[in-house]
Amino acid sequence: MKQTILITGGAGFIGSHVVRLFVNKYPEYHIINLDALTYAGNLENLTDLDQSPNYTFIKADIRDAEAIDALFEKYPITGVCHLAAESHVDRSIAEPMAFITTNIIGTVNLLNAARKAWTGNFEGKRFYHISTDEVYGSLGSEGFFVETTPYDPRSPYSASKASSDHLVRAYFHTYGLPVVITNCSNNYGQNQFPEKLIPLAINNIKHMKPIPVYGKGENIRDWLYVIDHARAIDLVFHKGNNGETYNIGGFNEWTNISLIHVLCEIMDRKMNRPPGTSASLITYVKDRAGHDLRYAIDATKIQKELGWEPSLQFAEGLEKTVDWYLDNEEWMDRITTGKYQAYYEQQYHKR
Ligand code: NAD
Ligand code: TYD
Repeated sequence: MKQTILITGGAGFIGSHVVRLFVNKYPEYHIINLDALTYAGNLENLTDLDQSPNYTFIKADIRDAEAIDALFEKYPITGVCHLAAESHVDRSIAEPMAFITTNIIGTVNLLNAARKAWTGNFEGKRFYHISTDEVYGSLGSEGFFVETTPYDPRSPYSASKASSDHLVRAYFHTYGLPVVITNCSNNYGQNQFPEKLIPLAINNIKHMKPIPVYGKGENIRDWLYVIDHARAIDLVFHKGNNGETYNIGGFNEWTNISLIHVLCEIMDRKMNRPPGTSASLITYVKDRAGHDLRYAIDATKIQKELGWEPSLQFAEGLEKTVDWYLDNEEWMDRITTGKYQAYYEQQYHKR
């Protein structure tokens, strides 16, 4: 079926992989990538799609309800994959308001626009909200997050995502809007903004700068390769059931410090440095406020019901990731110098 799919946040890390997958896999679909191009949005992630006939980029802010309504009037949107968000926990601790306005109000603006455009004809429509495992709070050393785990968000980021999840569910129950939600664990891979642990560590090691480890480095995260997340999003968008939630995870838990040691070994090898060189950069710093101890996803539901599983082992995924950052120095340099933000002007303002 011909579909017009609005992907929000498509210039970001995960969104860019989802946009690429959908544009290339479904040439019969029209894919609209809506992104405000905040500091985290980088259109250079998608230069390979510039000439794709089934792809449109629109610079707009999901906080602007009128702009979102206008978009639904202009295009016959049949599906939404909503990824646009403020996504970094440390920024949410420093400046929570952007998280409230984008993650909560922005999501409601999209829900309202979809509801207005689709009321009376929900057949074949889908509003897919992409969320995080952080809404479930923090685990002790035992147990896993399942879809029925009570919400217990503990940072402004996770609280804003939890709030948006509740609103998406409320629109399903109240108005019958055909929604689906996924909650995923930590992603890693190419094109991740270097404020997050893995690209930050790779970049610092490369430049022989200290690797900041919060607290004792004992916090645990469950890591998933970003392309496996994009594959899961494709599957849930097409095969998931309305009103359902699916957890997505890597079955892959690491303490931060063990993960950093593995990265250090890979970097020593790739950069032909004596063993131990990178590890000497490990620097323990003040802990993050309210630092969640452990996230771990039980992804049995999506595995059993939709047949999804991660395709890559972590060792292989990390190698690929390190190779990508080392082979794409310019991408990182343009971020660290701020030059990446000029791409939109160059590419789109000439039209
Ligand atoms: P990101 O920060 O890399 O990208 C976010 C994108 O959203 C950017 O392109 C940014 O420009 C855009 N954006 C921000 N505010 C906007 C606004 N007001 N209007 C329009 N666009 C706006 O984030 P990411 O890591 O790719 O995460 C994408 C989604 O996946 C988020 O909803 C996040 O909560 C969720 N998620 C992320 C992870 C992870 O490990 N990164 C894990 C689970 C879920
Ligand atoms: P991050 O990549 O920010 O993801 P999240 O907070 O959403 O899990 O951080 C991953 C883990 O690494 C988290 O426990 C915080 C820790 N961390 C550091 O120790 N040092 C750093 O410089 C960063 C950015 C994170």
